[in-house]
Amino acid sequence: RVARDRALRHAGQMSNSERSKLSIVGAGAVGTSLAYAALIRESAREIALYDIQKAKVDAEVLDLAHGTQFTGSSRIIGGDDLDVVTGSDVVIITAGAKQHPGQSRLDLAAVNVGILRGLMPGLVERAPDAVYILVTNPCDILAVAAQKFSGLPSARVFASGTVLDSSRLRWLLAERTGVSTSSVHAMIVGEHGDSEFALWSQARIGPVPIQSWRPVDRAPVSADELDSIAEDVKTAAYRVIEGKGATNYAIGLSGARIAEAVLRDEGAILPVSSVLDGYHGISGVALAVPSIVDASGVSALIDVPFSEQEERQLQDSARTLHEELAKLGL
Ligand code: LAC
Repeated sequence: RVARDRALRHAGQMSNSERSKLSIVGAGAVGTSLAYAALIRESAREIALYDIQKAKVDAEVLDLAHGTQFTGSSRIIGGDDLDVVTGSDVVIITAGAKQHPGQSRLDLAAVNVGILRGLMPGLVERAPDAVYILVTNPCDILAVAAQKFSGLPSARVFASGTVLDSSRLRWLLAERTGVSTSSVHAMIVGEHGDSEFALWSQARIGPVPIQSWRPVDRAPVSADELDSIAEDVKTAAYRVIEGKGATNYAIGLSGARIAEAVLRDEGAILPVSSVLDGYHGISGVALAVPSIVDASGVSALIDVPFSEQEERQLQDSARTLHEELAKLGL
């Protein structure tokens, strides 16, 4: 159906927003923030919110629906019957246990793999053509699990990866350099977690490599500052969780953005996390590398000329995730 709609769109017989369905599994802080972001951004024509807690999900759908006069053409439905996801073009999974202060994302693996194992068959039965995006943590581990549990091609089952981390990086660099985040081109890659790293060798402020940036009225960014910024990104979630118990707004916006790249067949380059098959010698693990995201899901990976240090960091990140997958028998 996605391919047919794509053909109709390309033939100019169907606008991108005419018919597109985004389903969100899990009506917790992340799932509801994602639904709210998708409504405001008009990411999809129809947004469905599913959760096992009927009273909670029904109330969340009502509360969101009551504001749709102000959010354009998207409509919101939902409930505790999995049938609400039927016919989805994109399904984003946010359900699962969340990090508590001091807990790492990997600490959640066993519980959330178990939840996912129970969810995937029913989802795929109702939305066999959908692209599945894992947001629940540890999202890289869950991308591997979801691909195995669903049997779908790895292009159509991937995780949000370091899209959020890259947004944090761009905000910090924009604040430091005094330019708009849209003029900062920088990415975090690897695990969405403690082994992630910044792709400094490819980072630019406007057209200028970050290491060569020499503005008139501001000091250049030193190597120590870059290290400090990368560390701030890596520890950002811990700080937010310490203060408010969860992160939700930025990951919600990140999820809506990724869904749009699929629903609008954009061909956007985003650091999402799909199961690799020989990328820099890495296979059988999902971690974030620059990827082309379109109606088919992850349609291609970008080969980056990593520096020697970045290559080591990439391999270290892959090893961390391989070890976790081995513990889980995945
Ligand atoms: C964070 C969660 C989504 O990084 O892992 O905020």
